Amino acid sequence: MTRENIDSILQEDRQFSPTAEFTTAARIKNMGDLEALKRQAEQDHEGFWANLARQEISWQSPFETILNSDNAPHFSWFEDGMLNVSYNCLDRHLDAKSGKTAIIFEGEKGDVCTLTYAELHREVCRFGNALRANGIEKGDRAVIYMPMIPEAVIAMQACARIGAIHSVVFGGFSAESLKDRIEDAGAKLLITADGGFRGGKIVELKQAADKALDRGCPTVEKSIVFKRTAHDVSWTEGRDVWWHDAIAGQSSSCDPVWVGSEQPLFLLYTSGSTGKPKGIQHSSAGYLLNTITTMKWVFDIHDDDIFWCTADVGWVTGHSYVAYGPLAVGATVVMYEGAPTVPDAGRFWALCERHGVTIFYTAPTAIRALMKCGEEIPSKYDLSSLRLLGTVGEPINPEAWMWYHRIIGQERCPIVDTWWQTETGAHMIAPVPGAVVTKPGSCTLPLPGIDAGVVDEQGNDITEPDKGGYLVIKKPWPSMLRTIWGDDQRYVDTYWSKFDGKYYLAGDSARRDKDGYFWIMGRIDDVLNVSGHRLGTMEVESALVANEKVAEAAVVGHPDPIKGEGIFAFVVLKGERPTGGIDEALTAALRNWVGEQIGPIAKPDDIRYADNLPKTRSGKIMRRLLRAIASGEEITQDTSTLENEDILKQLRGET
Ligand code: PRX
Repeated sequence: MTRENIDSILQEDRQFSPTAEFTTAARIKNMGDLEALKRQAEQDHEGFWANLARQEISWQSPFETILNSDNAPHFSWFEDGMLNVSYNCLDRHLDAKSGKTAIIFEGEKGDVCTLTYAELHREVCRFGNALRANGIEKGDRAVIYMPMIPEAVIAMQACARIGAIHSVVFGGFSAESLKDRIEDAGAKLLITADGGFRGGKIVELKQAADKALDRGCPTVEKSIVFKRTAHDVSWTEGRDVWWHDAIAGQSSSCDPVWVGSEQPLFLLYTSGSTGKPKGIQHSSAGYLLNTITTMKWVFDIHDDDIFWCTADVGWVTGHSYVAYGPLAVGATVVMYEGAPTVPDAGRFWALCERHGVTIFYTAPTAIRALMKCGEEIPSKYDLSSLRLLGTVGEPINPEAWMWYHRIIGQERCPIVDTWWQTETGAHMIAPVPGAVVTKPGSCTLPLPGIDAGVVDEQGNDITEPDKGGYLVIKKPWPSMLRTIWGDDQRYVDTYWSKFDGKYYLAGDSARRDKDGYFWIMGRIDDVLNVSGHRLGTMEVESALVANEKVAEAAVVGHPDPIKGEGIFAFVVLKGERPTGGIDEALTAALRNWVGEQIGPIAKPDDIRYADNLPKTRSGKIMRRLLRAIASGEEITQDTSTLENEDILKQLRGET
């Protein structure tokens, strides 16, 4: 993709309005009301957010200062207010809703359990006390490496309750990735489980946790282990503590620690264009506020909704729309531990039927995978409880959007295609479903108070419809990231330097159509989007070259019908190139190696071996050329600057 002139080829002119039935019951019922909200925000950006913060958050002591930009691009919101996020998610509902179901959990084997708000509150309090008993205090970091079970949410909420900072590491990441994240965060505690159940197997979380702790992580003093699978695991006396022992005898009341609005609530590591993942740091009040406003505006949450976001708590989606947003608004949230295809590709729809899910939120990659299994599967289930559908993580291709609309939503449910990022904390560009007409493949319009734009290389607005440019956010918003943990300069460089501190650079390219609708076109940096998950090409390259057989590696994305983007690696070996460029055993070994270094999602789909990588005379790897080869496209670019033209044949697998 050229950076100056990213012209789009996607043409989609279908439009879908919400049904009268949906609109009648919606919180925001028409464009007039939505536009009035947007106008309020435009006229008084700070006042708009301050009013919402007063309305939506229960403060222990109120704030006076709204936005402090003195240290821009470091912004603080509501900084002199005091609150507790866990209090806002639990305690404040207890008078009216103590018996309401907070969490409906289903395991892969079909085990179901529910927790009311009173029960969840009790468990969070007991675990909060257990954390304290294990030496965790305000500001300490705790890494959470758990399966998708209620205890993961309990652990997050308990950290928030005592003012500790959690960093959840996705259970699919390897021991090596876990170790890197623990060390970067300087965590004092690791919270894990003996294992989890997924895909008919046990995910060996404790084994990976042991490996990580044995290889490094000097700051970790204790590891609290939840017994989920009850299979044998190794044990380090003095360090490992069973969860049930840790909470035994703990009181079911635990006073929340009141913290300032800017107290970090969590770190969440995500990939960037260099080899090292970034610890995105979020605040307490600002983050909480936008999870609440988007639960209301975008998910149109009502008291009787059953809300299911399929994301794992290891990703930001599982933070904002499983662990925090739904609880902050007192909703009922569904959690599922297992794979979408166990026992068959009807599992999601079976869950929707069984639990009466009304709002269902998932990733395009899951929709495409389930779509491939045929219409007959969903048609076996009663999906009539659904009233709203959502997608997140990558652009949804119009074909998958239409299938979702027709087969799952039965042409009745609006679809909210939500654009946002780990860094933004909550939805930024998304339809407000009772008001906005949707177009398949577009995330539609920025939410109230979100000043999003598409600009050219100089930072000027692109006014011509359908012309691509940089997606930027022009004004600070409450749930924005505050910095990158331990690397503030990288925060400034990555997000603010491109437009001299004026705009937040999202790292995506986008275009706006004649109606002002946003269409996300992809990343502008070397970040891949594999099944809606972010992976840096450099991260995979570093993993490959860490293998003793590999001298050099280049990794690019190529289109994949299910995953959106797949990983294609070009490798130069230290020894001889395998004959014909194929060595299945070595490829399998290197794929596993990358799996161990990062996690299974980072395994390259294909590896091709060459004597050299294509470089310009100045030594830069010609990535565009590699992308063309990986996608099987014809090479149109000038290759005359290549040092060694013969390697093109090798890279194409021809010799
Ligand atoms: O490229 C955009 C894509 O996912 C990136 C953010 O990834 P991550 O921080 O892992 O968060 C994913 C869940 C919020 C974005 O920069 N992306 C996310 N949502 C969409 C999207 N691309 C197109 N349409 C979306 N709705």
